[in-house]
Amino acid sequence: MSRRKQIYEGKAKILYEGPEPGTLVQYFKDDATAFNAQKKAILDGKGVLNNRISEYVMLRLEEIGIPTHFIKRLNMREQLIKKVEIIPLEVICRNVAAGTMAKRLGLEEGTKLPRSVVEFCLKRDDLGDPLVAEEHIHTFGWASHAEVDEMIAMTLRINDYLRGMFGGIGINLIDFKIEFGRLDITMENGTVAHQVILADEISPDSCRLWDRETDRKMDKDRFRRDLGGVTEAYTEVATRLGILKETQNKGAPNLSVVSNDD
Ligand code: C5P
Repeated sequence: MSRRKQIYEGKAKILYEGPEPGTLVQYFKDDATAFNAQKKAILDGKGVLNNRISEYVMLRLEEIGIPTHFIKRLNMREQLIKKVEIIPLEVICRNVAAGTMAKRLGLEEGTKLPRSVVEFCLKRDDLGDPLVAEEHIHTFGWASHAEVDEMIAMTLRINDYLRGMFGGIGINLIDFKIEFGRLDITMENGTVAHQVILADEISPDSCRLWDRETDRKMDKDRFRRDLGGVTEAYTEVATRLGILKETQNKGAPNLSVVSNDD
């Protein structure tokens, strides 16, 4: 791994040059950060779990026709992905008021929204990823009108699918954040067009997942709010999805996997 060229290091992932042109290797770290990296910790096994869960989710989304950057999982912590130009926006979809929406609008956390809401935040750590309106996106050229329309349509489809997928394992999808990238496509006449595809990851780091029976949080809010049992909750999500074996030692996540191709 050390021989590979590092392209980028983020808070929870590292990107390395891939084996083929147009590919990258995405490495999932155990680092957890919150509140714009003011709070930090290392959570043993988190990277392994998020690699698995994100792989599972991306594969299911591909099956319903959502184009994603995912090519294949390489090992416990790495996946091969398509190299894209990341659109500098975080796209958040909410079904239930929580987190910054609950705070900003004075809503009680857990209030069901009358319809799913899509929000955009500018990816700028130095500004705390501010919420932006579509007008800002167009004015400052962060994405075109067509790209915004595609991102909204894909986000709502992803939301519909993931609500059903998590609902089937007794989990309510409260909200989630996704990112999109532009992939260069060479047309038959030689011109290059951009396709908008799903990038980054979808995992308990980027979703709010509440147990349907008890409303117990099974996501990164356990870390943000010092609730403890972070990797245990992520392990339970993976187990319910059928990614991990049912058996686990009490207190410590069992990271053995159903398919032992590692
Ligand atoms: O904090 P907020 O309520 O705006 O988060 C909405 C959703 O987006 C949550 O599921 C949170 O985990 C996710 N999110 C994220 N990365 C960020 C901001 C939010 O994954 N930088």
